Amino acid sequence: MKDLSPRPDLWSLDPDVLHLNHGSYGAVPRRTQELLARLRTETEANPMLWFRSVADRLTTSRLELARFLGTDPAGFALLPNASAGVTAALAAIPIRPGSRIVLTDHIYGAVRYAAERIARARQAEVVVVEIPLEADDDTVVAAISAALDERTAALIVDQISSGTAMVFPIRRLAEACGGIPLIVDGAHAPALLDSPAQDGADFWTGNFHKWPAAPRGTAGLVVAEKWREATLPLIVSWSEYDERLPERFDMQGTYDYATWIAAAESLRVLADLDWPARRPQLTTLVENGAQLLAKAVGTDLPDVAHPAATMRLVEIPFDATRSPDAGEAFKIRVSRELKAEITLTGFDERIFVRLSAHAYNSLRDYELLASRLPTLL
Ligand SMILES: Cc1ncc(COP(=O)(O)O)c(C=O)c1O
Repeated sequence: MKDLSPRPDLWSLDPDVLHLNHGSYGAVPRRTQELLARLRTETEANPMLWFRSVADRLTTSRLELARFLGTDPAGFALLPNASAGVTAALAAIPIRPGSRIVLTDHIYGAVRYAAERIARARQAEVVVVEIPLEADDDTVVAAISAALDERTAALIVDQISSGTAMVFPIRRLAEACGGIPLIVDGAHAPALLDSPAQDGADFWTGNFHKWPAAPRGTAGLVVAEKWREATLPLIVSWSEYDERLPERFDMQGTYDYATWIAAAESLRVLADLDWPARRPQLTTLVENGAQLLAKAVGTDLPDVAHPAATMRLVEIPFDATRSPDAGEAFKIRVSRELKAEITLTGFDERIFVRLSAHAYNSLRDYELLASRLPTLL
């Protein structure tokens, strides 16, 4: 029997705080932090020697990250974040005047802005498909398919949405695209879904600095073979004419490559935590935690057809319209007065706490939040 007890000792998180929002910025285990510190010491001992060693070490780490995703390393490039991944994908696709970029109302705000920027530049249009929170896969596929036509230049969909923590049926959507370029925003997918980049998207991007707990600034872009030549890093540097996609993205000018090199250490931490066995246990934990919180605030849990493995929404009675910064102000009060870190999301005029569970959490965290949060509502 594997020991799957909570392991806050592997992280350096403040024990006086309830850390219930891994989903936003992750949290890096001590072991990876220590490796990163050693790499930085090495850099500062001899920057010239360090930069000479970067290419080989980066290749080793990149191959390990590609293996973790179960993807072809020849189509896998490193980037600082999922925002950069979506932006690079949009830049590779021909988007003609009068064409449409289709996305959904679950899209991450910054990704929508990326689509809007390119649409403005190319005289194209952004079309937003509305998908109910409680939609099943058939409803999702039917609603998105109905918006695809000969004017569609690209479809962007979340694999796991941020605001609604919902898993989208990517394979079915790839089939529905029938040749229309599909960009999958898999920011939350690494470590929450097995082989997340294997569902037939033209472009897939995902963050290692969320659930795999890698240092911040580590993300990947998986590019289908036919798009590899056209896909370029956002920063033009010395690898501009390298025909190999991963190597082209490896070189971003003078940059702190230690982050990418140390990232693979977090994958080893996950392996040592028996992540495949632990993840379903975290699903149960976050579900139980969400039930406790919903009961405490007097709401019903939304019936999301495919919720993310380690995130759950709990609706709270909260009037977000009372001021433009009401949500931010509330999170700051929760942080200061309740010693808890949570995030709020809004969908369809409803406000939710989006709870997370990672290997450092235990049921006690949710019990304490449930006992404290009603005092601020
Ligand atoms: C669905 C989704 N897409 C994109 C992003 C952006 O990620 P990053 O800030 O790493 O670019 C996030 C971040 O939370 C997200 O949840």
